[in-house]
Amino acid sequence: MTFDRSIKIAPSILAADFANFGAECEAIEAQGADWVHVDVMDGHFVPNISFGPTTCAAIRPHIKGVMDVHLMIAPVDPYIDAFANAGADVITAHVEAGPHIHRTLQAIRGAGAKAGVALNPGTPAEAVAHLLDLTDLICVMTVNPGFGGQKFIDMSDKIKTLRSMIGDRPVHIEIDGGVDPSTAPIVAQAGADVLVAGSAVFKGGSVSDPAPYGTNIKAIREAAAGVYA
Ligand code: DX5
Ligand code: ZN
Repeated sequence: MTFDRSIKIAPSILAADFANFGAECEAIEAQGADWVHVDVMDGHFVPNISFGPTTCAAIRPHIKGVMDVHLMIAPVDPYIDAFANAGADVITAHVEAGPHIHRTLQAIRGAGAKAGVALNPGTPAEAVAHLLDLTDLICVMTVNPGFGGQKFIDMSDKIKTLRSMIGDRPVHIEIDGGVDPSTAPIVAQAGADVLVAGSAVFKGGSVSDPAPYGTNIKAIREAAAGVYA
C-alpha cells in the first residue's frame, strides 16, 4: 500500500449480497472501487452481528486491492492476529472499544497490518492526539456504528481538526456512514480522502447487473472532486 491523499472510494460489503461476497468484491473492484471496506460486528460493541475472520479469509482471494477491515468489536486484541492472518491490509479498531487503544495499535502494526483508529460521533478529535504516530488511518464515523443505511451526521469540524493535527504525517482520514453524492463533497472539503459507502454504492445493482455499482461509485467520486456531471 502506497500513501496518497487522492479520493478513494471504499464500498462497504455490509450492503452486498451476503450469499455472494466473493463475486460482489470482484464486481465492485471491476466497477472502480479503490478499497473494499469490511465491517465486522460482534453484537456487543455494536447492536448487530455481521461476520468474523473466517469470512474475511474467504473473501481475500476475491480482492485484488486493499482489504480495509473495520472492527466494531470489543475486546479487539485477542482477534488481531486472526484478522491479520485473514489478509487484512488495514485493521481499524475503535478508540471506545477498550482502555488500551495505544497497545492495540502497536499490536496491529506488530501483526503486519496498517493500523486504523475509529471515532464514534460522540468522541472528540483530541482522543487520538497521542496516537498520531501509531496510526495509518483515522476513521471518522458519520453515523453511530452498527447498521448501514443510516442518516449522515455532519462531522466537518472534527475532520478539519484532525486534518490539521495530522499535518504531514502519512495518515488517511476515512469517513464511514451515510456517504453519498450529496454528502461526499462536505467530507472531502473538510479533508477526508477515503470515503466508505455501502447503500449508496450497492443500490440498484447486483452481481448479475453490476453496472449500477460503477455509476454509483463514479457519482460519489465526482461529487467529492467537485465535478457535477
Ligand atoms: C456502519 C458501518 C458502515 C456502513 C456504511 O456501522 O461501519 O461501514 O456499512 O453504510 P452506509 O454507507 O449505508 O451508511
Ligand atoms: Zn465501516
